[in-house]
Amino acid sequence: MQQIVILTGAGVSAESGLGTFRDKDGLWTKYDLEEVATPQGFARNPALVHDFYNARRANLLAAAPNPAHVALARLQATRPGAVTLITQNVDDLHERAGAREVIHMHGQLMRARCAACAHVWDAPPVMAPDDPCPSCAAPATRPDVVWFGEFPYHMERIGAALERADLFVAIGTSGNVYPAAGFVQEAAMAGARTLELNLESTAARFDAVRTGPASVVVPAWVDDVLGQGAG
Ligand code: APR
Repeated sequence: MQQIVILTGAGVSAESGLGTFRDKDGLWTKYDLEEVATPQGFARNPALVHDFYNARRANLLAAAPNPAHVALARLQATRPGAVTLITQNVDDLHERAGAREVIHMHGQLMRARCAACAHVWDAPPVMAPDDPCPSCAAPATRPDVVWFGEFPYHMERIGAALERADLFVAIGTSGNVYPAAGFVQEAAMAGARTLELNLESTAARFDAVRTGPASVVVPAWVDDVLGQGAG
């Protein structure tokens, strides 16, 4: 059965009401990413960083998956073992739509990590700099998200999936941030066909592009794939 590798970005969650980063009213037009999404920013002002992620966590708790998340979960369930879902997003909307084994390469908003002992646990809705780590009690808790300048998670697993991909699909990502932005090249070099689903075509080179809102183009694409049978 054909191996499909999917990479999602903020655009897949845009219609669920979560902000994207680089669109006209995106998060990076409201916040200085140096202050809220780098280890240096966290060291300088941990309270500001926690406020930023507490606000995004509150947004997420009030949000719901949209038809794009639901369609991807359906594809994965219909093609067991043949669909690898990688996301740059730190939200849990793929999981809440029923997706499993989602590879969160930039971490997860609903997880917390201890900067002292690396213990990871389910994040409370509101986090504060002096929350003690449940494991080592150090007041060094941070959101379990990957900041600029830090290594993304699960890169080995991702590399292996790209190596054996027959089809690579990038959904709702601007292709601005590496290493995710390089996955389309890596998959193509390994012989995969590549497809972009986005509100508009990005500068990256794909074999095919389908433009439109994710809640429309993703379910339509999944219907096409499932309509093709084993494919
Ligand atoms: N449907 C489909 N695509 C959409 C929609 C929509 N409704 N709305 C926006 N998009 C597309 C935009 O056209 C853009 O290509 O989503 C993309 C959003 O791009 P970014 O805001 O750059 O988000 P992303 O690519 O996920 O950013 C990657 O950068 O800031 C870091 O760690 C952060 O994971 C993030 C990474």
